[in-house]
Amino acid sequence: MTRQKIGIAVIGFGWMGQAHTRSYLRIPTLFQERTYDPELIIISDNMQDRVDEAVESFGFREGTTDWQAAVNHPDVDVVCICAPNMLHEPIAIAAAEAGKHVFCEKPVGGTPEQTVRIEAASRKAGVITGVGYNYRWAPLVQYAKNLIADGALGEITNYNGRFFTMYGSDPMGLLSWRFQLDGAGHGVSSDILSHSIDLAHMLVGPIKKVVGTGHTYIPDRPLPKAGGTHYDAGQPGDPTGPVENEDYFGAMVQFESG
Ligand SMILES: NC(=O)c1ccc[n+]([C@@H]2O[C@H](COP(=O)([O-])OP(=O)(O)OC[C@H]3O[C@@H](n4cnc5c(N)ncnc54)[C@H](O)[C@@H]3O)[C@@H](O)[C@H]2O)c1
Repeated sequence: MTRQKIGIAVIGFGWMGQAHTRSYLRIPTLFQERTYDPELIIISDNMQDRVDEAVESFGFREGTTDWQAAVNHPDVDVVCICAPNMLHEPIAIAAAEAGKHVFCEKPVGGTPEQTVRIEAASRKAGVITGVGYNYRWAPLVQYAKNLIADGALGEITNYNGRFFTMYGSDPMGLLSWRFQLDGAGHGVSSDILSHSIDLAHMLVGPIKKVVGTGHTYIPDRPLPKAGGTHYDAGQPGDPTGPVENEDYFGAMVQFESG
């Protein structure tokens, strides 16, 4: 079978960059009827050892610490953005303006203003876009969606969404980019709650009114070590720095449906 090649650039080779790359590698073994094959053209990370690992062990053809070189590589059709949130905007807009299709990890920028600008640039460029709100594809969620669409659950009058996650609960969890304004922008409201909001939008529809409250329960965390992940922890007595965004958020909303 003749299959089209789709040239991939992955930007950011941490947790999600590696997860997406593993998935690209598995596509040929999982989908025999596919009409395209992803081709790992270029990886970009600002840490050279991650670039080297991506080339040596995952099979990217090239690697660079300069994300602009990856975005503008002539063999790249799709840019997969797995860098910290505050980098989403420059990368996504550069990719769209270069005519590349964009898969951007959630939350698509670190602030709502950035999300709006990324959406506008992508629509203007006419490229295909996708976002990493992966829970909506879970079979259970799709089943619920079908139950609602078929009317099996009647009129939906209440939606209860929660997302508890453990990575921030340890006070010794390192002060990674997730806890800093210039890396993440907002805290759990965009990192975690946005998954729940995505499901709410998909299952129940747009939200009209919101009242909410956020808080930072752990105000200081041990300083990070190079190359760590957000699951790494420090020790009591390690030097610390201030957490700059919220680690709790709760809200009551009204949907447009009433
Ligand atoms: N969809 C999901 O379920 C899910 C889960 C986890 C993370 N995410 C999202 O994925 C993105 C990445 O999160 P992560 O957990 O992989 O973080 P991470 O810290 O593990 O990885 C981020 C990577 O980006 C690299 N990086 C930093 N600055 C860079 C630059 N200038 N150029 C290129 N690379 C750079 C870092 O060195 C690191 O390797 C975030 O937007 C996050 O919200 C989504």
